[in-house]
Amino acid sequence: MAYQFSSDSETRFQKLIPQFPNKRSLILPCLFLLQRDQGFVDHDGMQYIADRIGNPVSLAHVHGVATFYTMYNKKPVGKFHIQICANISCYLAGSDSITEKVCEKLNLEKGQTSKDKLFTVDEVQCLGACGFGPVAQINDRYYENLTPEKIDQVLEELGRKG
Ligand code: FES
Repeated sequence: MAYQFSSDSETRFQKLIPQFPNKRSLILPCLFLLQRDQGFVDHDGMQYIADRIGNPVSLAHVHGVATFYTMYNKKPVGKFHIQICANISCYLAGSDSITEKVCEKLNLEKGQTSKDKLFTVDEVQCLGACGFGPVAQINDRYYENLTPEKIDQVLEELGRKG
């Protein structure tokens, strides 16, 4: 069945409409709703958003926004999406050792999802917490001042929740 907003997302969408008189400004929060509903943004979902927002917003507008921002997943991700910042501040603080630890522990390469669909590991650009590196974002939560030992504990906890 083609994508449509969940009932909660539909409620949020209705509240967003009067807050964004410029319809193009609705694209970002609608993509967020789409990703929250199904974990990633795909062609059908983008078409749905373009249709729901309506003229002058087209599929091309929605696609342009979705592909510009890296925070929108273009493919399904695991239950825990581990995004490790690899930008300069975090790199200088040792982000490569965090990525190495995560990949080794989960037996994954960067960009891969575990067979049980529990974990996806990605390196990303600046997460906006440069003073607290190395930083990782796992779903909606930030983990700052990471060390290989700390991320090991985090992965153990997530594994128990999985
Ligand atoms: Fe890592 Fe900015 S460089 S959060």
